[in-house]
Amino acid sequence: MEEQDAPKPTSERHVPVLKDRCINLLAPGFEAARSRGETPVAIDATLGMGGHSEAMLQRFPDLHLVGIDRDEEALALAGARLQPFGARTDLVHAVYDEIEDVLAELGIPEVHGILMDLGVSSLQLDERERGFAYSYDAPLDMRMDTSRGQTAADVVNNYSEEDLVRIIRKWGEEKFAGRIANRIVAARASKPFATTGELVEQIRGVVPASAAKSGGHPAKRTFQALRIEVNEELDVLERAVPAALSVSAMGGRVVVMSYHSLEDKIVKSVFQSRSKSSAPLGFPVELEEHKPEFKTLTKGTEVPTPEEIAENPRAASARLRAVERIKARRTA
Ligand SMILES: C[S@@+](CC[C@H](N)C(=O)[O-])C[C@H]1O[C@@H](n2cnc3c(N)ncnc32)[C@H](O)[C@@H]1O
Repeated sequence: MEEQDAPKPTSERHVPVLKDRCINLLAPGFEAARSRGETPVAIDATLGMGGHSEAMLQRFPDLHLVGIDRDEEALALAGARLQPFGARTDLVHAVYDEIEDVLAELGIPEVHGILMDLGVSSLQLDERERGFAYSYDAPLDMRMDTSRGQTAADVVNNYSEEDLVRIIRKWGEEKFAGRIANRIVAARASKPFATTGELVEQIRGVVPASAAKSGGHPAKRTFQALRIEVNEELDVLERAVPAALSVSAMGGRVVVMSYHSLEDKIVKSVFQSRSKSSAPLGFPVELEEHKPEFKTLTKGTEVPTPEEIAENPRAASARLRAVERIKARRTA
């Protein structure tokens, strides 16, 4: 049996990405709430191991935090970590496009800061049996919420070749998508895929070694595509960003960290469209109804410093964008 180190406490296992920058961006939203005599409320829509949440609760002693994660294992770990803050937290098992329902259930009308730290957590990558990592042989699962939905094995064993090409090309941005899908379909005819190792072996057989030299591990992009498909990550994000904006109070801030261009494209498009005037071109004055609802707080995207990347290599691909509500919400 492989020898394993004793698991480290959650707080030691993980360094939150751009922690100080996120908190500094969120702080004025909480201050706006206080100036109106309200208790500041934040949503951590991607609780993970609770690193960002813990830092927020420590820094703002009056803050109430709603933590959401679709992964029950993450919720349990974060729950233990955030226990010292007890009554100041509500931790909810949900998908982040359900933000409005989550708040309605808690009786919270609006919030003053929302953080979304997208993608998979270190926990999910490190827990080998979850099947997210191409470097370990494990059941081909990749569900963030293991209580429901199709697994990566269901996708590779049941999708048509055409659908496999489409997702591997689109979500993985993989130029060998055709060859990989073709090989998957041929291999599964004799034996359905059950493990990550079996899939990696087939991918290795069709991605030229020269491509792996420049593009990293040959299975990297296919694994990204399967993970996105299994968790419907981009469809959910397309609904979640507008939902986050809609529950933001006046002066409230929304901070999102993406880890690949497909995510960032969605965030950028929603932020830009809600931060510009809707006045028709050439309109002489800007009427109140045409004024933008949000202003952007970041010029393009912000990225971690080399020091942060040295401390936490998984931060390397992080791209941060943030907006602030500058026009009152429309309430029903
Ligand atoms: C990068 S981690 C967050 C890490 C966290 N900021 C911390 O400091 O520990 C992303 C987390 O978001 C969760 N997640 C991803 N997509 C989600 C979704 N659509 N709804 C709810 N949670 C989601 C994942 O399960 C994972 O735990």
